Amino acid sequence: MERIKLAIEKAKAAEADSARPDVPLLRKVSDSETPAGESSSAIRREASPGDASSVHYTQTAVVSMDAAHLERHRVVSHQKTHSASWAFDVLRTQVLQKMDENGWRTLAITSPSVESGKTVVAINLAMSIAQQTNRTALLVDFDLRRPSVARYLGLNRSLSLNDFLDGRVNIEEALVNPGVERFVVLPTNHLVTGASEVLSSAKVGNLIGDLRERYSDRIVIFDLPPVLAADDVMTVLPRIDCVLMVVGSGASTQNEVEEAMGRLSKANLLGVVLNKDEAPVQNAYY
Ligand SMILES: Nc1ncnc2c1ncn2[C@@H]1O[C@H](COP(=O)(O)OP(=O)(O)OP(=O)(O)O)[C@@H](O)[C@H]1O
Ligand SMILES: [Mg+2]
Repeated sequence: MERIKLAIEKAKAAEADSARPDVPLLRKVSDSETPAGESSSAIRREASPGDASSVHYTQTAVVSMDAAHLERHRVVSHQKTHSASWAFDVLRTQVLQKMDENGWRTLAITSPSVESGKTVVAINLAMSIAQQTNRTALLVDFDLRRPSVARYLGLNRSLSLNDFLDGRVNIEEALVNPGVERFVVLPTNHLVTGASEVLSSAKVGNLIGDLRERYSDRIVIFDLPPVLAADDVMTVLPRIDCVLMVVGSGASTQNEVEEAMGRLSKANLLGVVLNKDEAPVQNAYY
């Protein structure tokens, strides 16, 4: 518990220092605006701007998910009756308040070490955000070394970010709506060689910018690898507005947490999620 406390204290200190001058201000994008070089947008809405309550997926493939499969992979936030879904709603509100205050719309999720629960948190948080009728959530699997979003959601589409990176498809064709309103996923089906170089490429830079700017009510969550695993996180973080650190209880040593915090010192750290904690039930997901 001592190292968890330490992580929280450091997160608080980093939070106080979080204003970053180069973060672009919110830009309102009208419904009819189409990013340069792209034929049309993946999500088209019929409601007024700023209201995402009626979203129509005109190009995005829609697939249905299997409830038992989701629960096995700890994807629960769409089930309001599930005992753990409240925790993700609390996290959602904290995250959105902080992001709104700063005009941030893109969020990275990382951890010091492997198996901390990043992907579980990323999926549940994105689905919880999508339940708010004035938001849409896009979850991007940017763990190019160990992609797992598609597996956890049980998606088995052949098209993914891999095809976009290889130049075979437009981004719209790689997006998928897993049957939950206002929730879209950009899955990665296979590991990508040279992950760090790919994440630092102009193509990925343009992609992040495009996903961010297309709709002002969209929150884009990037599931990343552990910050200590390679330089992928350091490479891509300057392109993402803010970051959430997931610390898995027992998954990282105190030194690892400290080193990870150090590597995020230039980023806008929203806070630390304490996952797999063994405290009583009401805190089980923190
Ligand atoms: N709160 C939790 N309680 C119990 N098990 C959990 C919890 N969160 C995640 N897990 C389990 O821990 C394992 C790792 O979770 P997950 O894949 O989300 O971690 P990760 O940090 O994304 O891992 P990687 O570094 O491989 O990407 C999974 O089996 C997941 O079901
Ligand atoms: Mg993961």
